[in-house]
Amino acid sequence: MYTQSFNVQDTPGTKAVASVPSKEDPALQAAFDTRIDADGRIEPQDWMPDAYRKTLVRQISQHAHSEIVGMLPEGNWISRAPSLKRKAILIAKVQDEGGHGLYLYSAAETLGTSRDQMLEGLHSGRAKYSSIFNYPTLTWADVGVVGWLVDGAAIMNQVPLCRCSYGPYARAMVRVCKEESFHQRQGYEALLVMMTGTEEQKAMVQDAVNRFWWKCLAMFGPPDADSPNSVQGMRWGIKRISNDDLRQKFIDATVPQAKVLGVTLPDPDLKWNEERQHYDYGQIDWDEFWATVNGNGPCNKERLATRVKAYREGEWVRDAAMAHARKQQERSMKEAA
Ligand code: 3HC
Repeated sequence: MYTQSFNVQDTPGTKAVASVPSKEDPALQAAFDTRIDADGRIEPQDWMPDAYRKTLVRQISQHAHSEIVGMLPEGNWISRAPSLKRKAILIAKVQDEGGHGLYLYSAAETLGTSRDQMLEGLHSGRAKYSSIFNYPTLTWADVGVVGWLVDGAAIMNQVPLCRCSYGPYARAMVRVCKEESFHQRQGYEALLVMMTGTEEQKAMVQDAVNRFWWKCLAMFGPPDADSPNSVQGMRWGIKRISNDDLRQKFIDATVPQAKVLGVTLPDPDLKWNEERQHYDYGQIDWDEFWATVNGNGPCNKERLATRVKAYREGEWVRDAAMAHARKQQERSMKEAA
């Protein structure tokens, strides 16, 4: 349904942007720039400018926390899934998201930022995570729509990240994208089944689409002109396609899927533009987006409180695992002595 092809075009002209002037060692900087210009990979042991490292940690942090907080809206439905099959699928999906968070925390560790530091940022409310997870999942149809649209948007954004210039992030993304692809399909399939059901079920799907559509378009981030990090992120080959271009690709791919499903996307301005060979679409509410990103969405406080509670309640498990690891190490040292 969505391409797994890594052969995606970069946004034209990204390499034409001047490299960031650096006060660091000019020879190391020149070697780094040459590798970036040649679309080479940067690995943890390689020299990199501080600003590149910081940008990666910032983006990976936002991404990792999105995966972890993203477990909550769907996790709420595990005990209410309508059948054993749907429950098993949902448990697997939510577990996958937890795994994605862990790959990403590990990728950040290779840049010198520990998981504890990252979690402290999340729990104190300083670190960002995707706006989309601050909206409630009110009905079972929301679970299907999250799979179809939220995971669909995530794949669109993440497939180009498989070619990110930083090796550990790019490699984590290959696996994440394969799993996200399954998530998207299971959501779409659940909705297809509901759309062959009763009028109430069909209305439930349409209502969920109405509530999630615009929020999913905002997932790609602010318009390019208002995106402070895009130009540099693309110059460094971290991002490959701009926020607006990814949003457009997502809309173009989703409109035909909505037709097959039999739902209406809630945008009167959504029309095929023959000249552009893309769909035109209406205005996204950026004030609402920024309010949500800045902590004032409908579920921000609840999401954070749930994460902090889960972390505190899991402390004894972490302590027990550490004690066990210490004991094992002592035992193997004794045996070796
Ligand atoms: N929600 C929350 N914050 C957002 C956001 C969103 N939808 N879109 C942008 N922002 C934040 C950025 O993090 C940045 O904050 P900062 O400067 O304080 O770090 C600020 O808004 C300005 O945005 P920019 O466009 O300048 O930022 P980026 O160049 O980093 O681009 C991005 C934003 C497209 C989200 C990019 O960071 C990205 O591609 N990240 C990796 C993918 C990701 O995070 N996906 C999360 C989606 S959900 C998910 O993956 C879970 C899955 O299971 C569904």
